[in-house]
Amino acid sequence: MIILGINAYHANASAAILVDGELVAAIEEERLNRVKYAAGLPARAIRCCLEAAGVTLNEVDHIAVPRDPWARLGTKLRFAVRMPRFALDRVRVMRRFSGIREDLANAFEMDPHQIRATFHCIEHHTAHMASAYFVSPFDSAAVLSADGLGDFASAMWAVGNGPRMQILGEVTFPHSLGMFYTALTQYLGFWKFGDEYKVMGLAACGQPEFLDEFRRIVHVDHGMAFRLGLDYFSHQTEGPEMTWRDADRTPVLGRLFSPYLEKRLGPTRKEGEPLGPRHHNLAASMQAALEEVMISLWNTLAEKTRQKALCLAGGVAFNCVANGRIFSQTPFQRVFVQPAAGDAGLSVGAAFHVAHQLLQRPRQFVMEHAYWGPAFSASQIREAVDRFEMPADDVRLSELQEGPLLESTARAIAEGKIVGWYQGAAEWGPRALGNRSILADPRRAEMKEILNRRIKHREAFRPFAPSIAEEATGDYFQETHPSPFMTFAYPVRPEKRSVIPAPTHVDGTARLQTVSRSANPLYWKLLRKFGELTGVPVVLNTSFNDNEPIVCRPEEALSCFLRTQMDVLVLGNLFLEKKASSAPLGEPTEGIAQRTA
Ligand SMILES: [Fe+2]
Repeated sequence: MIILGINAYHANASAAILVDGELVAAIEEERLNRVKYAAGLPARAIRCCLEAAGVTLNEVDHIAVPRDPWARLGTKLRFAVRMPRFALDRVRVMRRFSGIREDLANAFEMDPHQIRATFHCIEHHTAHMASAYFVSPFDSAAVLSADGLGDFASAMWAVGNGPRMQILGEVTFPHSLGMFYTALTQYLGFWKFGDEYKVMGLAACGQPEFLDEFRRIVHVDHGMAFRLGLDYFSHQTEGPEMTWRDADRTPVLGRLFSPYLEKRLGPTRKEGEPLGPRHHNLAASMQAALEEVMISLWNTLAEKTRQKALCLAGGVAFNCVANGRIFSQTPFQRVFVQPAAGDAGLSVGAAFHVAHQLLQRPRQFVMEHAYWGPAFSASQIREAVDRFEMPADDVRLSELQEGPLLESTARAIAEGKIVGWYQGAAEWGPRALGNRSILADPRRAEMKEILNRRIKHREAFRPFAPSIAEEATGDYFQETHPSPFMTFAYPVRPEKRSVIPAPTHVDGTARLQTVSRSANPLYWKLLRKFGELTGVPVVLNTSFNDNEPIVCRPEEALSCFLRTQMDVLVLGNLFLEKKASSAPLGEPTEGIAQRTA
């Protein structure tokens, strides 16, 4: 039984394939066509999935598409009368969906009738929830999806029991936690699609001075229902308009807030205007308001379902700061967050929904890691290096066995070098989780500034994340629940904040990745080796890219290595070091204290 999930025709296009109930591959189109947040038909991702499963398109039994034109038709029609332009745009998208069989046939140079798969339209939030619950390790759980908007709803919740999910409720347009966060992100001068995580980072710099006002902007109504103060927004009258930038084909979301928001909170921050305490406090107030609502929703959901496990998906589930508070603020004891919690994850969710809810197949798969993208063999990697004609005067190349490879890599990181770490299959979801990562020494406070200056060019307020050997989590963090997909931020233990200053944010938290031996043996061994050398089984882990989608093929890793000031590239078992790499920075004081302690 082969099920192909396809998220198409809007941002974060992706594909996923299931063979006999097991996920075989899942990949976002942006990693392959190199267009950030790529939309359209993800033909490359589909091809990649089919290759991984060793099948052709005409062998696929079911195709699951996460969009249901019939869902909430009454609400859609009501708003269509008020917002004709938005309605027309929706009709255009629906037309594209109805032509997906023909588009697929064109892309794969087939006759549409050769595609013998049954097509299924799965409602947006149902697919989000399925992407979390059906791949979670839980036999039963409460499930929550929250995002900007999908099929005219912004949130949905359910209880999962074995191979079934029972939907318990929903919040429909125009009330939306995602829209709330995006509108305020825009107000704070961050207009790029997907900039919300920047404001989440900024929030830690301020105090929630404006929380009372923000409680008017968003609040819990009763039970699971939340409401926006609609006077502050414009999307309910003008529609959330999405256009595509000509230059780089990235999405642009139109303005979501109204003049009333500016009247109440003051003028918007112009893009590029320096950030001051007022902006910090606005961001902190927005984050605090979101957390208040989320904590209330989680508690109500726990009460309604009597479940101890929670599954999360939808863009709001990327709010790792809020997620980090679940264990101290709610009765939930175990939480699974889909690593591709945004719309990319819909391809996985739609496919699993078909497998279990529609075809009534038993559950057998647990997403224990996120390495579902393309992988390249040692010979493919070697060929890529040879094709690159590495300048022998500038780069020293050696082929190493696993032991020496780990030793050399850990030593380079400990010496303060910036290391590109490229191994195995590419990650599913927006986080680099130790297969397409740039690694650095977390013990050096200056490392954040060095990484930004030499490679990442990010805003100074944005934190970098740590990876930690899972068994050491409690030694460094105040929470110990695993965070394998970097979806929780926990307070760093006060006595460890000076030990790992680089990935510790200004508020003393860090958005950690816990690495288990079973999920990623090689990366886990690297963390252990670094721990042996320094006493600290933690590295700073940031995505392997330079203002582009995360690298996928070895050629992209090589190109990034050569055009940036990265010192070392570990490409499979090849160790490449620039001869003119920056001199070792000397030992960090805290690191020495750790090792001799
Ligand atoms: Fe969504």
